[in-house]
Amino acid sequence: MNTDHADVIYQGKTHTFPVVTGTEGEKAIDISSLRRETGLVTYDNSYQNTAACHSAITYIDGERGILRYRGYPIEDIAGKTTFVDTAYLLLHGEFPGKEQRALFSRKLTEYSLVHEDMIHFFDGFPRGAHPMHILSTMINALATFYPNVDLLSLQEDIDSSATRLISMVRTLAAFAYKKSIGEPMVYPRHNLSYCANFLNMMFHSPVKPYEIDQDIVDVLNLLLVLHADHEQNCSTTTVRIIGSAQVNLYATISAGISALSGPLHGGANQEVMNMLRQIRDSNATIDAVLRRAKDKADPFRLMGFGHRIYKTYDPRARIIKEACDKALKKMRVSDPLLEIAIELEQKALADEYFVSKHLYPNVDFYSGIIYRALGIPENMFTVMFALGRLPGWIAHWNEMLRDKDRKIARPRQIYTGLPLRHCNESPR
Ligand code: ACO
Repeated sequence: MNTDHADVIYQGKTHTFPVVTGTEGEKAIDISSLRRETGLVTYDNSYQNTAACHSAITYIDGERGILRYRGYPIEDIAGKTTFVDTAYLLLHGEFPGKEQRALFSRKLTEYSLVHEDMIHFFDGFPRGAHPMHILSTMINALATFYPNVDLLSLQEDIDSSATRLISMVRTLAAFAYKKSIGEPMVYPRHNLSYCANFLNMMFHSPVKPYEIDQDIVDVLNLLLVLHADHEQNCSTTTVRIIGSAQVNLYATISAGISALSGPLHGGANQEVMNMLRQIRDSNATIDAVLRRAKDKADPFRLMGFGHRIYKTYDPRARIIKEACDKALKKMRVSDPLLEIAIELEQKALADEYFVSKHLYPNVDFYSGIIYRALGIPENMFTVMFALGRLPGWIAHWNEMLRDKDRKIARPRQIYTGLPLRHCNESPR
């Protein structure tokens, strides 16, 4: 008998609920029968204490700064494995063998072309449209080209759809960029790796051929690997919630992209650069910036700092910071914004406000600086995040699909509006 349980005493009656335990010993009170037994629901603003699913994909310990994909520490994967292998790991649970890798790569190449009719869509966007909005619109539009890709029809062919999406999103992202700068789109090439192909589609031009630099390809692989999954964050939860209504996969992922675009989520990487630039241009001292971030009357927050789960240094930020130092040295780039970021980090980490609230740099704090060094324009930073996060979103969507206890997501609320009244009682 399971002796691990929690008692809820309500109106003098004791109700017992089982406690479930995860692989790493984390515990949760299973309240599935709470309303049935007691008539009560739980109130948990913004799901801060709610585990909404079981998941075997990614493990995070925010107190100890641990991140693992399918059991592997992020430190074992980042910089040592390609993004394509990591995507396969997230989707399938294991790294690919030789044959599986060859097949996956072949499919990625095969699916990289976008339907020619979709290319006209790019003409409809206004100049200066944010590439994140273009990307989420284009991914949603894929639902019209693959209308039968719903939850049920996919059960047999998840691999093809997942691979098509991972491949095509890269082409669409690069096309969105080319459109935004008014240059001709560059088609994918069959003989380039995933990351090299993306860089070529971004930077090749008929008058200035792009030379693939393996160092840059390696850094891009590292960055995409670091972003590949992060369990039940805002965008992944969006994907699970929308997917639970059996929405078409492409429409579902489009919603995930929209969630990611927010400045409190993936959009923070662009906001960090805005903040660093403002500090540089205004000649504000770091002390003055920190004072503003601590002032409750001022809406300003230190972008790239703080995390719902990590109460210590984000392990991804540590890896990116190291990679940033190395890459900038290798490319002989000196970026004054990096110096500002380092000073900001040092002073914040020594400041009582940030220490007591456990606010540390998150993944977005240094990623913008390294993207800048790679030549990626700022309005594409969050798009890069989306490219990286795609395998994670699809893995979670697939896991949800296969969960035998799956139900449409539908939280409850505590109604705080007016009590019953009738139209003939109110003055008009
Ligand atoms: N600067 C200043 N104060 C902060 C910051 C910050 N960056 N982050 C949190 N705080 C303060 C809050 O004001 C709050 O103070 P209080 O307890 O006195 O009210 C306390 O720290 C807790 O913050 P919450 O907002 O309640 O924490 P929550 O878990 O809801 O939010 C979040 C996390 C959104 C990431 C927040 O830290 C933030 O806004 N950071 C800046 C944006 C950012 O970098 N987002 C990227 C996150 S990583 C990602 O999504 C990929």
